[in-house]
Amino acid sequence: MQDVNQIRKDFPMLNGKMMNGYPLVYLDNAATTFKPQSVIDAVVKYYTDETCNAHRGDYELSAMVSDAYEAGRQAIADLIHCESKEVIFTSGASGSLNLVAYGYGRKYLKEGDVILSTEAEHASNILPWFKVAEETGAVIEYIPLDEEGRLTVENFKKVLTDKVKVVTFASVTNVLGYIAPVKEICKLAHEVGAVVVVDGAQAVPHVAVNVKDEDIDFLAFSGHKMCGPTGVGVLYGKYELLEITDPFMLGGGSNARFDICGNILLKKPPFKFEAGTPAIEAVLGLHEAVKYLQKVGFDYIEKREKELRDYLVSKMQELDHIILYNANADTGIVTFNVKDVFAQDAASYLNTKGICVRSGTHCAKILVNVLETSETLRASLYFYNTFEECDALVEALKTTTVENCIGIFF
Ligand SMILES: Cc1ncc(COP(=O)(O)O)c(C=O)c1O
Repeated sequence: MQDVNQIRKDFPMLNGKMMNGYPLVYLDNAATTFKPQSVIDAVVKYYTDETCNAHRGDYELSAMVSDAYEAGRQAIADLIHCESKEVIFTSGASGSLNLVAYGYGRKYLKEGDVILSTEAEHASNILPWFKVAEETGAVIEYIPLDEEGRLTVENFKKVLTDKVKVVTFASVTNVLGYIAPVKEICKLAHEVGAVVVVDGAQAVPHVAVNVKDEDIDFLAFSGHKMCGPTGVGVLYGKYELLEITDPFMLGGGSNARFDICGNILLKKPPFKFEAGTPAIEAVLGLHEAVKYLQKVGFDYIEKREKELRDYLVSKMQELDHIILYNANADTGIVTFNVKDVFAQDAASYLNTKGICVRSGTHCAKILVNVLETSETLRASLYFYNTFEECDALVEALKTTTVENCIGIFF
């Protein structure tokens, strides 16, 4: 049994920080998460005791750092259940999704092919596909979401044809927090020969993910949303797909040979995708983050977020002036509005009470068609949040009124 007070001691950001005279209540974990001391220590240790490049030096220090870097890759592979050669380190989920869109999509899509996606996607998983569609003549079609805003197998079946070559969606959406039926979608997509690209930015930090069991072709996620450092992310790809995918960048470390005539022999995956010096300290930190999350346990993380979410939702439902958009979310994302108050004004007011929530479109700009509102507030919970922090939000919401919010925006 985990003790949240014990867990919170591991995070410097959760120990006594104040904002505007109030204890800091951080409910913006979908944007980025806090880091435990072990992650911070790993980053500092690299700069203090281990600085050198990885995979480039013929000396012991470099061999040690290269081994540590590859141990990070193995840790990710174990986390999502694949082989380490199927794990590419990128700059983040955005970097990973752009790599698939440009390296795979632009290479294989042609005029009339269909890229199936949803209106709930984050900009990072739709803009690259817009560009690739424009360049290849492929078209983007949307799987209709149900009345709650969920991606369902039934609706997927309605739009799946043999013209579909790529299916891409978030396995947990960043505004509504719904879990998509990944395994069923992969099975159906594969029956028509389509490749499935899963945006796991909001999934991997919160729920156990098994790419082999779900038969995912590509999976993208970010280190900083799972207690790791910024500047590192992951693209998983089935090895046979990585072999035929082009790198998005070329440069040092990714080639085995090149000559004056421009002939290039690239290394095998994953190295052909990792041109240039990587974010070494971030990979070492991410390894510690994975260890930390595994120590806490994904069963606990899921259960704790669900308890917090249910509690917060039930308290918010008692407030007449709160409009909830995802009362039945599957993860710790609570999206809402305060009646008659512009979302950014409400967020600014909550800031004066020490509370951090996000407002706006949350980078999912076409979801407004489904939500029928242009802006929302989003409180996103993680396993280290507390019921007291939920209470603090609810208390602050009681006084989030038009009168109190006038002129508050900063
Ligand atoms: C669902 C989803 N996909 C992709 C991203 C992009 O992640 P990053 O900014 O770390 O590249 C985010 C970030 O909020 C996200 O929520």
